[in-house]
Amino acid sequence: MGFFILFPLLVLVLLVLGCVQTSLGKESRVMKFQRQHMDSDTTSSSPNYCNEMMKRRNMTDGWCKPVNTFVHEPLADVQAVCLQGNVTCKNGQPNCHQSVSKMNITDCRLKRGSKYPRCTYQTAQKEKYIIVACEGDPYVPVHFDNSRLFN
Ligand SMILES: *[C@@H]1O[C@H](CO)[C@@H](O)[C@H](O)[C@H]1NC(C)=O
Ligand SMILES: *[C@@H]1O[C@H](CO)[C@@H](O)[C@H](O)[C@H]1NC(C)=O
Ligand SMILES: *[C@@H]1O[C@H](CO)[C@@H](O)[C@H](O)[C@H]1NC(C)=O
Repeated sequence: MGFFILFPLLVLVLLVLGCVQTSLGKESRVMKFQRQHMDSDTTSSSPNYCNEMMKRRNMTDGWCKPVNTFVHEPLADVQAVCLQGNVTCKNGQPNCHQSVSKMNITDCRLKRGSKYPRCTYQTAQKEKYIIVACEGDPYVPVHFDNSRLFN
């Protein structure tokens, strides 16, 4: 007796535990956006900014993320972009939004020839309109799509 009841039960318990663990451990898209794109407290001034920040924000773990933009504006101002101009995302989805005003941003671009684990980046400070994809309720940024010099 027992085995044919207990074994499936054990498998079920393990499955449930596994699910709970991965859902606890997994970063939401909202948190991921903030980790990868928000840096409200500073404007990048040093040429080393991207080298330090790409590492600190875990974008050089296992590979060098090739391009990434940091936004130096309050989180509330970036979240507010979700209520601003409706534009089509690069991938054709309709849920992108362009900021009504320019924002201070830093573009990080992997230098030519730079290879993991030595990720070295070019740092470029800019003032541009940003385009983000938004999702959910509350409707907040989950993806940095693009930036533009003109609106
Ligand atoms: C980067 O990853 C480390 C180790 O997984 C973690 O402790 C740390 O909180 C992460 N940093 C950020 C900014 O998410
Ligand atoms: C964007 O589209 C939504 C839904 O179609 C609409 O409610 C909203 O007014 C539009 N916003 C702008 C700024 O055009
Ligand atoms: C960017 O930051 C500089 C220095 O803080 C400021 O003078 C400028 O107005 C900011 N530009 C935008 C578009 O917010």
